[in-house]
Amino acid sequence: MYYIGIDLGTSAVKILLMESDGKIANVVSKEYPLYFPHPGWSEQNPEDWYTQTMAGLQELLLGFDATKVAGISFGGQMHGLVILDAEDHVIRPAILWNDGRTYEENDYLNNVIGKETLSANTANISFTGFTASKLLWVKKKEPENFARIAKIMLPKDYLAYRLTGVHCTDVSDASGMLLFDVKNRCWSSRMCEICDVKESQLAKVYESYEGVGYVLPEIAAKLGLSEHVLVAAGAGDNAAAAVGTGTVGEGMCNISLGTSGTIFISSEKFGVDRNNALHAFAHADGHYHLMGCMLSAASCNKWWMDEIIGTQDYAREQAAIEKLGENHVFFLPYLMGERSPHNDPDARGMFIGMTMDTTRADMTQAVLEGVAFALRDSFEVARSLGIVIERTKICGGGAKSPLWRTIIANVMNIKVDVIESEEGPGYGGAILAAVACQEYASVQEAAGKLVKVVDTVEPDPKLAAKYEARYQQFKQIYPTVKELFPKLK
Ligand code: XUL
Repeated sequence: MYYIGIDLGTSAVKILLMESDGKIANVVSKEYPLYFPHPGWSEQNPEDWYTQTMAGLQELLLGFDATKVAGISFGGQMHGLVILDAEDHVIRPAILWNDGRTYEENDYLNNVIGKETLSANTANISFTGFTASKLLWVKKKEPENFARIAKIMLPKDYLAYRLTGVHCTDVSDASGMLLFDVKNRCWSSRMCEICDVKESQLAKVYESYEGVGYVLPEIAAKLGLSEHVLVAAGAGDNAAAAVGTGTVGEGMCNISLGTSGTIFISSEKFGVDRNNALHAFAHADGHYHLMGCMLSAASCNKWWMDEIIGTQDYAREQAAIEKLGENHVFFLPYLMGERSPHNDPDARGMFIGMTMDTTRADMTQAVLEGVAFALRDSFEVARSLGIVIERTKICGGGAKSPLWRTIIANVMNIKVDVIESEEGPGYGGAILAAVACQEYASVQEAAGKLVKVVDTVEPDPKLAAKYEARYQQFKQIYPTVKELFPKLK
């Protein structure tokens, strides 16, 4: 049988066809536009997600026996607000996870409602990217749209709805809405009250590996599928990526270097970071996780390569980098503000430390290192909670670069395990579909059997010591310039 994993990303949808034994039979990627209507705002058109997913599915199945597809599931960009009216029409463009417009609503939630109340009801505090502050923004700035809301959905759940006609979500993605009681895995009535939302406007919540319905007959006919293709709820992209890299069970770690950068620590027990700098969310394996999320990771490198120095040849630019651990140039990667651990939508990108002999390679290196240092900031929060991490998996577009993997291993001073497939969320989505179809008894069993480590990057003690010194310098930059950022608007 075949299982399809749909990774609904920020720049593209990546769709993967997996055989029962975990072998990847095909992968297809389809891009769609991302709109920045104002600096710091970020939107997408849900119709583009659907159109490109359908085009991608058609291309994915070319040359394969589509009647052998048993299940479909998702990993999806998290937190995005998709609102539907009573006829299930999309009311306005989706406001995405990396949108910083809701700083006033975010302040209201954290400081007027109060972090203690938020944390007691959801296990988290508010960040501008989270869905609750977006709802309050729509209520204040677009009251006519707010009044029309019949359903509130997350990005991948909108796709599940278009494929099945069912309004559903899953525990991991629901965790990022700040409307969800993470510990008890159900909607929070107190948060619904605070955000002026009725529970009937929210979707039914499933575990990630549970089936929500079957592909609608007209979609099945279009794709040549049988009438019994089960759609599983799926997961937020980070939880799905964790499944796809085998980061399930107690104390495992995954780093994702995608548009965002995340550190994901799986746990069998519910736990909250007392300062809420890390998110405490439900995991797709039926348990929990802690996560730090930086808003711009591989996207910083893409911005630097595509927009600033104007090249597509990333490997050539990286080949010119020779002085690991000795760069005097630093880069703050806050191109969309920053979430973990600073929670500062006003933060901005910055290069510092250049001299007349600074080269293009030094600047490229600073970008890769800046992302690694900023990830280490979240890693330090986990360490301060007493969590011991000696190794991590890695996935996402940035993880394809051996140089970046080496930088990460040495900046964190941990072993980095490289997985056979770095298609984290797509592979995780396909695994969740296989579990929903009972090909495997549990997510743990499936991940244990299917995910293979093919290489490990070991930190080099001398290089790790050099990076330790550089990180101590990096750490001082943001607190020193932080007060300036709001004045630069
Ligand atoms: C996680 C987050 C991002 C998006 C990216 O909290 O906001 O990783 O899910 O797609």
